Amino acid sequence: MNRNRHQETTEITELILDAAAKARAEIGVVSKQAATGKSAKWPIDCTIGPGLEGAIACESKVGYVNGSAGLLSYRGYDIFELCAYSTYEEVSYLLLHGHLPSAEELEAYEQKLVNYRHMNQTLRLLMSFPVEKMNAMAALRMGTIFMRQEFTILDQEEAKPGLDDAISADEDSIAMETKPSGERRAIYEFKQKKQRKKKSKKSNRDDASGLEACYHLIAGVPTITAAITRLRQGMMPYEPLNELSHAGNIFYMMNGRRPTPIEERVLDVALILHADHGMNASTFASMVVASTMSDIYFSVGSGIAALNGPLHGGANERVLHTMREVGSPENAKKWVKESLAKNEKIPGFGHRVYKTYDPRARILGPLAKFHCSGCASDIQNLINTAEKVEDEVISSLAQEKKIFPNVDYYSGVIYTRLGIDPAMFTPLFAVSRVAGWTARVLEYIQKNRIFRPRALYTGTFNREFTPIDKR
Ligand SMILES: CC(C)(COP(=O)(O)OP(=O)(O)OC[C@H]1O[C@@H](n2cnc3c(N)ncnc32)[C@H](O)[C@@H]1OP(=O)(O)O)[C@@H](O)C(=O)NCCC(=O)NCCS
Repeated sequence: MNRNRHQETTEITELILDAAAKARAEIGVVSKQAATGKSAKWPIDCTIGPGLEGAIACESKVGYVNGSAGLLSYRGYDIFELCAYSTYEEVSYLLLHGHLPSAEELEAYEQKLVNYRHMNQTLRLLMSFPVEKMNAMAALRMGTIFMRQEFTILDQEEAKPGLDDAISADEDSIAMETKPSGERRAIYEFKQKKQRKKKSKKSNRDDASGLEACYHLIAGVPTITAAITRLRQGMMPYEPLNELSHAGNIFYMMNGRRPTPIEERVLDVALILHADHGMNASTFASMVVASTMSDIYFSVGSGIAALNGPLHGGANERVLHTMREVGSPENAKKWVKESLAKNEKIPGFGHRVYKTYDPRARILGPLAKFHCSGCASDIQNLINTAEKVEDEVISSLAQEKKIFPNVDYYSGVIYTRLGIDPAMFTPLFAVSRVAGWTARVLEYIQKNRIFRPRALYTGTFNREFTPIDKR
């Protein structure tokens, strides 16, 4: 692998460093990182809103988001630095292992990814279904289950983690009759990390909840995504190319040609930016599944399902349709005014956590502009329209409602410039986020406790049963 991958794309490094400087100038120095600590004392008092807003469900060292200051870091490294100096391979290793790899560790990891890119059995199974007619995320989800089949040599029952690894089973630790706030609390059992039993009979390849399975998924989800792209076009998938980087190979398998250094770097930065983001809905979904002592393939499958929704990963595809609907920069003002008057949510804006400019959008905006300059007129029109819509939304909503562009706003423009079909934008999000899902699942199951919140019962009691003929 080329160890000096950024030497031909220094303009991109500079653009990221400029975005970082701009962010620092606007944010200032954040002296205290809110809501962090070495280890929590459970139970924790916190205000919880619908949708578990504000709830603290676990401890994690994987990543940190400060929504009011617009900060994002993975394992303590600032996102701007990672985008400027690192690669997706390094970042995914960092998320999983907690440290940046040494040269030897990186080489061994990259080799594993290269090996796992080849998934003939999975692709054969995938191609036995009418993938071209399926929702791309549904096909991707199905593909991860075929990957599980390919990965585990032993019987699936044996590949499951043992129940001894679980700290506690499914039970109502706070009974429904207990008031939402008051004296009684759950007895939390975050016991010292249990030593997981050595699975002497299983090889690495059979542990469907182990590190090796994570590598397999990080390497394999791109292969499935690229295969779906090709099958949707009525063509056969391309074989992965071993000499290409992770981003370079994804580009190749989706487009059928090797990327230029700029294209490879742009995709690499986009992958780094989407790799992890706190307890977002898809990460939480994968962790909930993992907490039942299911395995990482099922967890990733539920992450994919959650990511599919338009309020989450599905937003970037909608952004592109929106830009096409707006049509041109000249229409932006009128279009934004009309949609706000109809109380519509504009795709690619707003965030549950960020109440300021999303740091990922700070990079993706200039990156999109850089990559689209000098392009064909339709791409130019797309980026110009996006910029104008951004100006209009910010001037209408930033001050009053703290609405700014989010990660999805410019990613659709970038993917279009990279020749990617809008239907594949959300699968491409999954290609990157699989690193965050697996890292957080792996961390959580070390001190596992099954997720089991309560619902506040607002129904009635003591209703009399009416026979069907009297209803
Ligand atoms: C991401 C999102 C779900 C966050 O939702 P949230 O934190 O629950 O924010 P709310 O829905 O409570 O919105 C707060 C206010 O801002 C407004 N708002 C939020 N996002 C908006 C958007 N994209 N366009 C216009 N107004 C928006 C809401 O209408 C609401 O106004 P109100 O107080 O007058 O009712 C939401 O911003 C959204 O749907 N965005 C578009 C989809 C998207 O880009 N998703 C990708 C997220 S990475």
